[in-house]
Amino acid sequence: MSELNKNISDFDEFQKQEQYINALQDILYARAGNKQPLAMVRTYGCQQNVADSEKIKGMFEQMGCSLTDNEEDADIIIFNTCAVREHAEDRVFGNVGALKPLKKKKPSLFIGLCGCMMEQEHIAEKIYKSYPYVSLVFGTHEIQRFPVLLYEAVTSKRIIARGQDDGKIYEGIPIHRDGSFKGWLPIMYGCDNFCSYCIVPYVRGRERSRKPDIILNDAREMVKAGFKDITLLGQNVNSYGKGLDEDIDFATLLKQVSDIDGDFRVRFMTSHPKDVSKKLIDTIAENDKICNHIHLPVQCGSDRILKRMNRKYDTEKYLEIVDYAKSKIPDLSITSDIIVGFPGETYEDFQQTLDLIRKVEFTSLFTFIYSARVGTPAAKMDDPVPYEEKAKWMSELLKVQEEIAAKRCAAMVGKTYRVLVEEQAKNGMLSSRTANNIIVEFDGSKDLIGTFCDVEVTQARNWILRGKKL
Ligand code: SAH
Ligand code: SF4
Ligand code: F3S
Repeated sequence: MSELNKNISDFDEFQKQEQYINALQDILYARAGNKQPLAMVRTYGCQQNVADSEKIKGMFEQMGCSLTDNEEDADIIIFNTCAVREHAEDRVFGNVGALKPLKKKKPSLFIGLCGCMMEQEHIAEKIYKSYPYVSLVFGTHEIQRFPVLLYEAVTSKRIIARGQDDGKIYEGIPIHRDGSFKGWLPIMYGCDNFCSYCIVPYVRGRERSRKPDIILNDAREMVKAGFKDITLLGQNVNSYGKGLDEDIDFATLLKQVSDIDGDFRVRFMTSHPKDVSKKLIDTIAENDKICNHIHLPVQCGSDRILKRMNRKYDTEKYLEIVDYAKSKIPDLSITSDIIVGFPGETYEDFQQTLDLIRKVEFTSLFTFIYSARVGTPAAKMDDPVPYEEKAKWMSELLKVQEEIAAKRCAAMVGKTYRVLVEEQAKNGMLSSRTANNIIVEFDGSKDLIGTFCDVEVTQARNWILRGKKL
C-alpha cells in the first residue's frame, strides 16, 4: 500500500535534509502566492505529541513559514493525531472532514496528518482512501524526515509514510516552544510495558532514553531562556537510562536537572507505579526545585483487573508507595489516571477502585471509560457490561472524587504557597499554579504572568482556590 518513495530512506540524520529545507523555502513561498507561508499545527493527545508538534513547528520555521492557530488563514495544515481512545480518533476524522470546504475554497491549501493514529495501518489507509485532499500521511517514526516527505508531497505525489521503529533517537531537530515560561522536555520515547488495553507501545515503538548530557543541555537552555516550569516527559520515566552507556537512573537525572542554577521548578510525567523507587521519592523530598507532585496512574483498584491489565503491581504495592511518599513529602499532591469498565470488570471491582480513591485522596484524576483498541490483547477479551452502565459508574466515581478534591482544597485555606502565574482567567483574575499543581486565582497585574508570587489562600471554591498576593 505504501506510496513511500524508497529512495529517500537514506536520510537518517536531520541535518542532512538541509537541501530539502532550502528548496521548500522557495516552493512554499510560491505556493502561498508569493508571500510568507502560514503553517498551522494542531495537536491532539498527550504531551509527547505536544513535544513532537514543537519539532514540526521548528522545522516549519526553518522552511520560512510563520505559524498560525487559525485554519482559515493557513497555507499548510498539519494535524498531529492521538490513537489512545476511540473518541480521540473520531475527533480527528470529524475535523479532517471539516477541512473539505476550506480546501475547495483554497485549492493551494496543503493538508497533512501525522502522529500516533497514522502509525496504525488500517487508519492510515482509511485516511488515504477517504480523504483525497490529504496529501501527506506520516507516522511517529517518520517525524525526522518531515522536510523530505513534505518536499515529495508538494512536488510530486501524495505520500503515506509509516516507518519502522528503528530504535533510534534523532537529535538536532529545531524546536519551536509553544510557551515562554512553561515547557516540556522529553527524556525518553516509546514504551515497553504493553498494558493490555493500550495502543501506545504499538504506535510509539520501543523505549529509548535520550543521553543525559543532551537533556541537561536542553534544560540549561530552557532555564536561560526564562522557563520557570519544566516537565520531564516519558511514558514511564522511572525506567529512564535503560540501554544507555552512562550509568544513570531517573532519580539521578532529576536531581541533576534540579541542580541547574536559576529560579525554576521541575516536574515529570509519567511514573509507572511498578518501578517507582524510594530513591525517587527521597530525591523529590530533598530538592526544593522538584515539585511536590507525582502523577502516578493506578488505572484500577481491583487486583484481579490490574492483573488482566498487565500493570505488574497490585493495590498493596501501590498503597505502599503512596504511604512512603506521603510520609516523606509534606503537601504532596498525587494525581492519577483511572480506566472505568475494563473488559470483565464487575461493579464489585469498580467499588474497589472507589475504595482506593478514598484511601489515597488524589488531588485530581484523569478518568476514562475503557475504549477497545485494535491489535491490543484487551480488545479480544469479553466485555459484557454495556457502555451506559459504565457511564453510570463513571458518574459515581466523579462524585466521590469531587468530595475529596473539595476537602483537600478546603484544607489549603489560610496557608501560603509559592505559585507560578500562568494567565489571566476569563473572570479577569490571574490564574496561577502551586508546585503541587493546584490552581489559585487572585487579583493582580498581568505583568505578573510568567513569574513566581507568594499567595495566601483565602477561599476554596470546589477545586479552584482563591487567594491574595502577599
Ligand atoms: N504511560 C502512561 C499513560 C499514557 S496513556 C502510563 O502508563 O500511565 C494515558 C492514559 O490513557 C492511561 O493512563 C490510561 O488511563 C488511558 N488509556 C490508555 N489506553 C486506554 C484505553 N484503551 N481506553 C481507555 N483509556 C485508556
Ligand atoms: Fe500505555 Fe502502559 Fe505504556 Fe502507559 S505504560 S503508555 S498505559 S502501555
Ligand atoms: Fe495519544 Fe500517542 Fe500520546 S496515542 S496519548 S498522543 S503517545
